[in-house]
Amino acid sequence: MSFPVTRMRRLRRNATLRTMVREHRLAREDLILPLFVVEGAGVREAIASMPGVFRHSVDQLVLEAKRVADLGVPAVILFGIPDAKDARGSGADAADGIVQRASRAIVESVPALCVITDVCLCEYTDHGHCGLLAGEEVDNDASLERLAQTAVSHARAGASIVAPSDMMDGRVAAIRRELDANGFQDVAILSYAAKYASAFYGPFRDAAKSAPEFGDRRGYQMDPANAREALREMRLDLEEGADMLMIKPALAYLDILAQARREFDVPLAAYHVSGEYSMIKAAGERGWLDADRAMQEAMVSIKRAGADLILTYAAADLAEKL
Ligand code: PBG
Repeated sequence: MSFPVTRMRRLRRNATLRTMVREHRLAREDLILPLFVVEGAGVREAIASMPGVFRHSVDQLVLEAKRVADLGVPAVILFGIPDAKDARGSGADAADGIVQRASRAIVESVPALCVITDVCLCEYTDHGHCGLLAGEEVDNDASLERLAQTAVSHARAGASIVAPSDMMDGRVAAIRRELDANGFQDVAILSYAAKYASAFYGPFRDAAKSAPEFGDRRGYQMDPANAREALREMRLDLEEGADMLMIKPALAYLDILAQARREFDVPLAAYHVSGEYSMIKAAGERGWLDADRAMQEAMVSIKRAGADLILTYAAADLAEKL
C-alpha cells in the first residue's frame, strides 16, 4: 500500500504519538560511568581534553559514586592513575593499589552500586603498553599471569565485574581460571572483545597518562578495517568464559555491534569513548551544535544498533535528564 493511502507522517504528528511508536529508549539502567582515580586526598582535578570529567582521589570518588548512584546509574568502571609506574606494572595488582582502594571504598559506602574494574597494565607500566615487554614487543603469554593476578586483586577489593581491555590472546581464560581458583566464581567478566586501535582514545590517554612511550597498540588492538575478525574475537572470548562482550569505540563501529547482536545472546556493551564524548562537547562549546541533544542521539543510536549497556562519560548528565 503506498501513497496516498499510506502516510508515514500520520504517526509523527505530535509528541504523544511519537512516544507511543518509539522503538528504542535510553534508560538509566543502561548506563555505566567511567571514573578516573588518583592518589592523594581532596583531589577533584578537571581533565582539559574531556570537559565535565574529573580525576578524583578516593575520598572524592566516593562522593561522586554516591551522586551517580542517587541519579539511578547502576554501575561505574574504575580506571586507576598511580603515582609510580614500572616495567611490569606492579601497581596493577597491588593489594593496596589505587583501584583496589577505590573499589573497597565504594563497595563499603555505596553498596548498591556495581563496581566494574578495567583490567589492563597500560596505566601502570612505565612504557605505557598493555602487557609486559620482550624487547619492543608485547609478550602475550607472559602478560596473562599479570592480568589474571590483577583481576583477582580487583575481586578481592570487592569488584563484581572485571573488564579486561588489554587485547592479549587467552586473557579471558586465564582470568576465569585464576578467579575460580581463588574462590571468585561469581565475579563476572565483561570482555573488551572487539577493541579497535582507534584515534578516538586520544583524550583518555591524556586523562589516564597512559599513552605508549614508543610505538602504538596496533600489534594487539584490532584494525579498524576488519569486521569478520571482530566476530571471531567475540566468539573466542565467549568460549573462554566471558559473561558479556564489549565493542569499542561505539559510533564508528555500530555495524560490528549490530552484527554481534544478531550473532550472540549474551549482554552486549558498547564504549562511547573519550574522543567520541569530547568531540560532541567541543562542538557544543563552540556553539556548533546542541551538545545535549547530540549526546542523546548518539546514545539512542548505540541502543538501536543492539547494545544492552553503554559506557559513557555523560552517564550522570544523561541520567539527570531522563
Ligand atoms: C586501556 C584502555 C583504553 C581505554 C579504555 N581502556 C585506552 C587505550 O587502549 O589506549 C579507552 C577509553 C576511552 O578512550 O574513553 N586499558
